[in-house]
Amino acid sequence: MKIRREDIRILYDEDSLRKKIKEMGKEITDFYKDKTDVIHAVCVLKGSVHFFSELVLNIDLDVIYSFVHVSSYSGTNSTGRIKVKSWMEEDMEDRYVLLVEDVVDTGLTLKYILRYLRKYRPKDIKIAALVEKKVHDHGIKVDFSGFEIDDKFLLGYGLDYNEIFRNLPYLGYLKRKSEG
Ligand code: IMP
Ligand code: MG
Repeated sequence: MKIRREDIRILYDEDSLRKKIKEMGKEITDFYKDKTDVIHAVCVLKGSVHFFSELVLNIDLDVIYSFVHVSSYSGTNSTGRIKVKSWMEEDMEDRYVLLVEDVVDTGLTLKYILRYLRKYRPKDIKIAALVEKKVHDHGIKVDFSGFEIDDKFLLGYGLDYNEIFRNLPYLGYLKRKSEG
């Protein structure tokens, strides 16, 4: 399938993303501030790159960064198989870990990553996700959730279709044919 920019509608523009992520940063700061003064944030590449960078700028605590690169999507669907492209080197024993993900759809990606993160024996793991798709019962407890949406294929603000459209500054979705 060939997707062109004209096929994409804006779901959340730059201002609403910035506003929402600022609120999430405050909520996260308030949650941790009596527990610790440093958290270890793990960014799930590539899709979370912009969400992660905006979120950590809005957290008023020290934040250690780690990056893991995994993929599961091909075209507009999850393949159901997770590929690890690269993994972090930092240790996180006894740390307060915040796993930062762009979209939770089937929940497979996060389940997979969580299984590995637990082996580091962190003190605690919480999840922040910009978008939760309410299509599947993904079975993941998202502690800090930005937006909940129905079944749409999202693009932009880090999210891709076969590696394209990540650099759109807004979060868009693919129009259905009937939407003209
Ligand atoms: P899950 O494993 O099914 O929960 O899917 C999560 C992963 O697939 C996320 O890390 C996203 O990067 C990617 N993904 C999920 N939904 C979309 C979408 O609508 N557009 C682009 N990528 C998506
Ligand atoms: Mg992702």
